[in-house]
Amino acid sequence: MREKIAVITGASSGFGFLTALELARRGFHVIATMRNLEKRHHLLNEAETCGLSKQITIYQLDVACEASLAQFKAHINKIGRVDVLVNNAGFAVGGFTEEIPIDDYRKQFETNVFGAISVAQIVLPIMRKQRSGHIINISSISGLIAFPGLSPYVASKHALEGWSESLRLEVQPFGIHVVLVEPGSYETNIWSTGKHVSEASLHPHSPYYEYMERLEDHLASGSHILGNPSEIAQKIAWIAEHDRPSLRYSLGKGVKFAIFMKHFLPWQLWERLVQKQLK
Ligand SMILES: NC(=O)c1ccc[n+]([C@@H]2O[C@H](COP(=O)([O-])OP(=O)(O)OC[C@H]3O[C@@H](n4cnc5c(N)ncnc54)[C@H](OP(=O)(O)O)[C@@H]3O)[C@@H](O)[C@H]2O)c1
Repeated sequence: MREKIAVITGASSGFGFLTALELARRGFHVIATMRNLEKRHHLLNEAETCGLSKQITIYQLDVACEASLAQFKAHINKIGRVDVLVNNAGFAVGGFTEEIPIDDYRKQFETNVFGAISVAQIVLPIMRKQRSGHIINISSISGLIAFPGLSPYVASKHALEGWSESLRLEVQPFGIHVVLVEPGSYETNIWSTGKHVSEASLHPHSPYYEYMERLEDHLASGSHILGNPSEIAQKIAWIAEHDRPSLRYSLGKGVKFAIFMKHFLPWQLWERLVQKQLK
């Protein structure tokens, strides 16, 4: 049997990086894509240390760039097989709606939503002909529960959730499984280089300045309980090997409890609880 092929977006760091290694360890050939090839050495060095060099190929892909997507499509069509797609590339835009340039919302959606859809569109004809495949979309607890000061990110992940539900129903008859992974807070670069807060909301003259500070303090106070991102990589790899995966996998400290409470509590009580946390 031919070795299975997995494509991962955003493999230069965090979940994507660890998932590339984990899938390679489990015998997949991994096409680890990243938008900036200067960052490839970290993954290549780690793969070499683990004896996995032959299992990993690096390819340049910026999921928000049409030219890059077109090149990637040609490359994948030449390979002609994809068993697993991990739509992982993403970043977070924060700030308060009034103060976030609309273009920042567009950029957020270009990567987190349209990027994921575009890469799926590239692999779908191949998976459909194979009559098999897994598309694993990395969503977030923010795809299920909203938080203030992060609306571009929250909106993008809610959109990813809705699209994934539709896609799952569309391609199930062709043997393709669409899955959502919904992590809580994990220790990756998304909280540093991957987060872009609107400058206006950070300015002391902003009417939201104090609110923003409380939010930042709240996030900082939780930094010591950030989860180990290997847990997510393990789960993604488990899903990739699983014949009949569920639609959703929520992981992380307090995540399942928060989802339960959001659905269980009367809405006004839920809102009061969220606001109380930020006092
Ligand atoms: N860590 C968490 O707590 C957490 C929680 C819930 C969900 N998530 C989700 O997990 C996914 C991975 O994030 P992470 O936590 O592993 O953070 P990360 O370490 O910052 O990794 C994000 C990856 O996405 C890449 N990326 C961003 N924009 C891209 C684009 N236009 N084209 C291609 N690649 C792009 C980044 O590339 P560069 O290195 O070039 O920037 C990086 O490789 C994201 O979708 C994120 O929303 C993370």
